[in-house]
Amino acid sequence: MVSNLHLVLAACVLACLAHATATTISVDAPTPLWTECSNTSHGFTVTNLSLSPDPPVLGKNMTVTITGDLSEAISAGEFSVNFTFADVPVSRTTVSVCDIATCPVPPNPSAVFVFQAILPSQAPTGPYVTNIILSNSSLAQVGCVNVRFDISTGLALDHDHDIDTLGDSPLDGS
Ligand SMILES: *[C@@H]1O[C@H](CO)[C@@H](O)[C@H](O)[C@H]1NC(C)=O
Ligand SMILES: *[C@@H]1O[C@H](CO)[C@@H](O)[C@H](O)[C@H]1NC(C)=O
Ligand SMILES: *[C@@H]1O[C@H](CO)[C@@H](O)[C@H](O)[C@H]1NC(C)=O
Ligand SMILES: *[C@@H]1O[C@H](CO)[C@@H](O)[C@H](O)[C@H]1NC(C)=O
Ligand SMILES: *[C@@H]1O[C@H](CO)[C@@H](O)[C@H](O)[C@H]1NC(C)=O
Repeated sequence: MVSNLHLVLAACVLACLAHATATTISVDAPTPLWTECSNTSHGFTVTNLSLSPDPPVLGKNMTVTITGDLSEAISAGEFSVNFTFADVPVSRTTVSVCDIATCPVPPNPSAVFVFQAILPSQAPTGPYVTNIILSNSSLAQVGCVNVRFDISTGLALDHDHDIDTLGDSPLDGS
């Protein structure tokens, strides 16, 4: 059963987080935490990141706004967005830099990139880690950020049926 797998995965994630308690699964999701993960000192160093809505909603676009220090011009490239739940890849999307910015993008200490990303409405609720990598036209990594958020409506934990309804009805109260 999808729901049983989900519960096992969620239990593992919760057990592995030293600070986590049962209250992690609640309507009040934490503010997304992001951490820089770049393996190069050149390129793009993320200085801020926000999601809207926050937390994201399954089956609806989230607007990702990334601000950072771009030290080298980008003539072309892409953002690779890899959503994982309990270390299992759930969904991946790529966004061309030139579709969301005017290329070449010149060096800028506070470059801003804004794009849409979406998690399928059938995806599990719970804690996600999203790995976002910016590659340049040589396909070399020039920036990396990991984003944590918690999709926890409290509706979909026990019944597959509730997961199905998430995509159809807007969530209220947040
Ligand atoms: C980071 O972004 C958030 C959300 O847009 C904003 O509230 C905050 O002021 C920003 N922080 C900095 C240091 O710019
Ligand atoms: C999400 O945003 C993309 C890019 O703007 C758009 O093409 C797509 O139709 C949107 N999907 C939904 C479900 O709103
Ligand atoms: C997405 O992240 C997962 C977990 O870190 C990793 O196993 C997988 O290889 C990544 N996929 C891509 C396409 O980067
Ligand atoms: C892409 O980034 C790598 C690593 O920083 C760099 O060596 C390479 O010259 C860059 N390519 C372009 C076309 O800017
Ligand atoms: C940095 O990570 C990319 C994958 O995003 C990899 O292809 C590259 O080899 C890594 N570079 C270094 C110096 O580890």
